[in-house]
Amino acid sequence: MFSKQTLLSLGLAALAAAKTTTVENPTEAEVQAARASALPFSPVSNVKGLAFNRFANIWIENTDFDTTAGDENFAKLAKEGILLTNYHAVTHPSEPNYCASAAGDTFGMDNDDFHRIPANVSTIADLFDTKRISWGEYQEDMPYAGFQGFRYPLSGADEYVRKHNPLVLFDSVTNDAVRPRQIKNFTTFYEDLKHHSLPQHMFITPNMTNDAHDSNITVAGDFLGRFLPPLLENEYFTNNTLVLVTFDETDTYEIPNRVYSILLGGAIPEHLKGTTDDTFYTHYSIIASLSANWGLPSLGRWDCGANILRLVAEKTGYVNWDVDTSNLYLNETYPGPLSDGEYSVYEDYWPVPATTGRCSAGHGILDIVKKTYHGRKPTYNYTTSPVPYDSVSGNSAGIKFSRTINGKKETGITE
Ligand SMILES: *[C@@H]1O[C@H](CO)[C@@H](O)[C@H](O)[C@H]1NC(C)=O
Ligand SMILES: *[C@@H]1O[C@H](CO)[C@@H](O)[C@H](O)[C@H]1NC(C)=O
Ligand SMILES: *[C@@H]1O[C@H](CO)[C@@H](O)[C@H](O)[C@H]1NC(C)=O
Ligand SMILES: *[C@@H]1O[C@H](CO)[C@@H](O)[C@H](O)[C@H]1NC(C)=O
Ligand SMILES: *[C@@H]1O[C@H](CO)[C@@H](O)[C@H](O)[C@H]1NC(C)=O
Ligand SMILES: *[C@@H]1O[C@H](CO)[C@@H](O)[C@H](O)[C@H]1NC(C)=O
Ligand SMILES: *[C@@H]1O[C@H](CO)[C@@H](O)[C@H](O)[C@H]1NC(C)=O
Repeated sequence: MFSKQTLLSLGLAALAAAKTTTVENPTEAEVQAARASALPFSPVSNVKGLAFNRFANIWIENTDFDTTAGDENFAKLAKEGILLTNYHAVTHPSEPNYCASAAGDTFGMDNDDFHRIPANVSTIADLFDTKRISWGEYQEDMPYAGFQGFRYPLSGADEYVRKHNPLVLFDSVTNDAVRPRQIKNFTTFYEDLKHHSLPQHMFITPNMTNDAHDSNITVAGDFLGRFLPPLLENEYFTNNTLVLVTFDETDTYEIPNRVYSILLGGAIPEHLKGTTDDTFYTHYSIIASLSANWGLPSLGRWDCGANILRLVAEKTGYVNWDVDTSNLYLNETYPGPLSDGEYSVYEDYWPVPATTGRCSAGHGILDIVKKTYHGRKPTYNYTTSPVPYDSVSGNSAGIKFSRTINGKKETGITE
């Protein structure tokens, strides 16, 4: 006979084991069983935007600006679009940058661990849903739509990795019955292209070879050189579409986190092809630009004060900040609940977003954010800074920014 105590601990152990095999580390049999019934979902919509009607965000990995500039495929693509010369990733390593692109913060993440971000943190999916703008992700070598495991295949060389999948990190996405089905295998991209069922916002993650992570920039350049040109010729794909090719982060941690980024697609006016744009941007600028383009609210986090892509800012009349980047690295992390390094003591420190004030996109703050965080003091001056900074650690403090509106100069400095 087992004692009650032993039964209880056996029960807990079984529960813990069940948890690890089904979510983070499923068995191959479980993957195959789930794959047999997983149905990708491809909603469509046609909500007109100010500067584009569709946005495709394609992320390559871990390469310094100058290394990418030396690749002939990237140089060739830049001639077809606008090269952003002052676009910055926000931290290291990979995963917090992907997280930032979806939720407007890294939450102190300084690792590539298995994370599930609580349901009261909102993402771009919530912004799109306010206007029923269809969205999806295409993740190369993901075994099936909605897969939540850490990696695939389960052993051997990685092809698909969860850390490069922005929306799967959020309980507000994965707890939903439908949303996980919009996080699809890359093979579904070609089906959606064929059936004219591409979403208006898509995030594309090539596998660990094609995205340069386990290879190099030449391999990623070859991949894009094959993948993109036919799409840019495809009327259905390219019509009013803006494509961003960027990088999660630089490879070298000791230099500014400036990454080579190109805007492409049919939404680019002919006269801007082959030009450069030296406006200061970060990954947060993309969320702000999507909001400004489609008239969506802000998440109230670092997207709120972020500069907006010039193509969109020119339509809304927003005046972007000039940022003095001479001492700006954006290569550190800062206190937050997802840290497991020096800031891991901040485990309960979920940053509070802004719930009042004006954001660069000009359409207020998402209702659920206002409701959830009502009356709390925002952790940072999200509404007034185009640069993410941290006053606790002193990271990115003392960065000056300025702009001139109607002949009047405004200045600011990060704390
Ligand atoms: C959000 O959820 C986290 C985790 O459950 C919790 O610690 C935090 O207090 C919640 N925040 C608010 C404002 O409800
Ligand atoms: C997922 O994609 C890979 C290649 O990207 C393909 O080999 C595999 O069959 C796909 N799986 C499903 C379920 O479509
Ligand atoms: C990555 O994708 C390419 C096709 O796009 C495929 O040839 C390759 O086998 C995939 N996986 C790895 C680990 O390279
Ligand atoms: C990338 O690796 C290939 C060999 O796999 C090599 O031919 C190429 O020169 C490398 N590119 C760079 C930029 O190092
Ligand atoms: C491209 O967009 C224009 C409107 O900007 C529209 O008139 C045209 O029909 C579209 N072409 C295709 C093939 O969708
Ligand atoms: C960030 O860059 C500075 C300047 O090169 C360097 O001293 C620091 O160690 C870097 N931080 C990280 C986390 O690598
Ligand atoms: C941030 O807000 C504080 C007051 O809450 C203010 O003193 C400071 O000037 C603000 N900083 C910026 C950069 O706006």
